[in-house]
Parts: sequence; C-alpha cells; structure tokens
Amino acid sequence: SQNIYILGIESSCDDTAASVIHNGRILSNVVASQKIHEEYGGVVPELASRAHQQNIIPVVHQAIKKAGISKNQLSAVAFTKGPGLMGSLLVGTSFAKSLSYGLNIPLIDVNHMQGHILAHFIDEDGFDKPPFPFLAMTISGGHTQIVRVDDYFDMKVIGETIDDAVGEAYDKSGKILGLGYPAGPEIDKRAQLGNPKAFKFTKPKVDGLNFSFSGLKTAILYFVQRETKANPNFVEEHLNDICASIQYTIIGILIDKLKLATKQTGIKHIAIGGGVSANSGIRKALKDGEQKFGWTTYIPKFEFTTDNAAMIAIVGYLKFLEGDFANQDVSASARLKI
Ligand code: KG4
Ligand code: ZN
Repeated sequence: SQNIYILGIESSCDDTAASVIHNGRILSNVVASQKIHEEYGGVVPELASRAHQQNIIPVVHQAIKKAGISKNQLSAVAFTKGPGLMGSLLVGTSFAKSLSYGLNIPLIDVNHMQGHILAHFIDEDGFDKPPFPFLAMTISGGHTQIVRVDDYFDMKVIGETIDDAVGEAYDKSGKILGLGYPAGPEIDKRAQLGNPKAFKFTKPKVDGLNFSFSGLKTAILYFVQRETKANPNFVEEHLNDICASIQYTIIGILIDKLKLATKQTGIKHIAIGGGVSANSGIRKALKDGEQKFGWTTYIPKFEFTTDNAAMIAIVGYLKFLEGDFANQDVSASARLKI
C-alpha cells in the first residue's frame, strides 16, 4: 500500500497549528494557542496575525519532528484557505505555498468548515466514522452551522446563524457576568452546579434551520442590569443558577434545530464539531437524543473539535487521493463558503 504523508497547516483565527498524518492516521498534532487575546476579551486580528508569523516555523518544525519523519518524506502540504481572519489566513497560505514550492510537492487548499466536519474521518481507535448521508453541526466561537453531508466533498449548509455564533453567545454572556475569556468552559462548569430552570430566557424565533444568538445576549444584559439594581450582589449570589439557565436555553435552541433538521431530511446520524462540542450539556442532550429520537451521534476526540491542523491534514489526504491540488496562484479567502 501507498505511504502518504500530509502536512496540514491551520491559521484561520488565533491558533497556529500543524499536523502530520500518515494515510488516515495522525502522527502529530501541534497547536500554539495565543494567550495574548485573553486580556482583550476577544481575538484581536492584528495581534493574531503577528503571533502566527512568530509561531508558524516552530510549530511546523515540531509537527514534523514529532511525526518522526523528515520533511523530504512529505507527500503534500495542505493549508486552510478560509474562512477566517484575512491577516491570519495569509500567514498559513504564504507559508504553505513556499514550502510546497521548496520541497517540490503538491499544494492542497482546504476549507476550514469542511475540516471541522471531515475531522470525523481521522482514523482513531474507539471512534466510529459517520456513514453518508449524515448531518454535521459545527458549533464554535466563530461558527454555527448545520450541514447535510452526502459525501466527502458533497455537502450543503442547510442552516446557520444569522448573527452571533453559539460560542460567542457563551463568551458575551460570560463577559456580562464578569467571567474571563473565553467563558464557555466556566459557564459549563457552573451550569452543572446550578438549577437550569431558575431563570427563564426566551428562545429567539428564527425560521427554518437558521439560528440567532444576539437577542439572548441582550436579554441577559437587561436581566442582569434589572436584578443588580434591586440587589447589587445578585450575580455572585446566583452565578451557578444563571449559568445553568443560560446553558439550558442555548442547548434547547441547538436541539430544537437538530430535531427539525432530522425531520426535514430524514437523516438521523448526527456529527458535531467545533469548540462548543466540549460542552457537557450538548453531549448529554445528544446522548439523550439517541434514546428519545433514535439518533446515532458522533462526537470526535476533544483535540479534533477545537481549531486544529489534523482536520486540515485529513481533508488534504482525502483530496490527495482524488488528485485535487491547488496552484501556486491560490489565495486566502476570508469568506470562503462550503
Ligand atoms: O473551536 P474553537 O476552539 O475556536 C473557534 O471559535 O473556532 O471554539 C472556541 C469556543 C469559545 O467560544 C469557547 O467559549 C467555546 O468554544 N467553548 C465552550 C466550551 N468549551 C469551549 N462553550 C461551551 N461549553 C464548553 N465546555
Ligand atoms: Zn473553527
């Protein structure tokens, strides 16, 4: 059998990542996360781009070293073309182009959103691959989509957010509550200690399979302002209950749309991806869906759900098998669609 080694490079947002895969198996998966954004309460594009420039060479070097191969064994270089922050994407794109030129190996452009979905096809013991067709829900700080996947490269977005991403809803709610950035993990932790029905937040009314999260953030802001006027210590006294109630509302929104999507498509295999897949509430709700609605659900290993380069490398591998390569004139695309 063939020995195919693909180097994947991801730099679409604030993580600089590189990974080497051998056929479908991960040999290395290196991520340099940028701490600098924490003090700003969100990703600052200019700072992200500069940090990528500093990190990319050491990260790629480490990925190749950890894989235990020499760069001359690489079969191709895959990189994230988009969507993402232009200044960040350009660093990975330019680097990948130079490397492919220097090593005289093919260059493969990858759509980041396809990466989140096709991460499910990484060979990993104990993790099943979803059968086609399946529904993929991508939930993170930058994305919220439901995608119908009929084949590796035959997929269609059937629902997405019309404003904030679900991770943003977590992070912005956290900011209102005085929590650090990103707030998702802490809200999740506290939610497990609180009463999800303590406070009621109305779900947005959005047609079809689309999502909206900006109204929820505003509702929480007004709620906190109103309650602290009556009791200045309201937030600290009820923090776990507030977090549980926010989480309950958000999970309800996601599950309602998944129910509608399975009803409309007749597809009951559901795969999730993106940083919010780490959430304990969504994981439990999906498992409950297996009992209640006959779903089969797929949740990848944690390191493949947040932004990473293994998901870029696996798409690179699948495209390599199809001989689908990019030219040296390929460019980054901030708004690239699936
Ligand atoms: O995929 P990711 O690492 O980066 C992108 O945004 O693309 O996702 C980060 C997002 C943040 O908004 C963070 O608050 C959220 O995922 N997050 C969580 C949890 N862990 C991370 N949200 C809810 N519950 C969690 N356990
Ligand atoms: Zn992402």
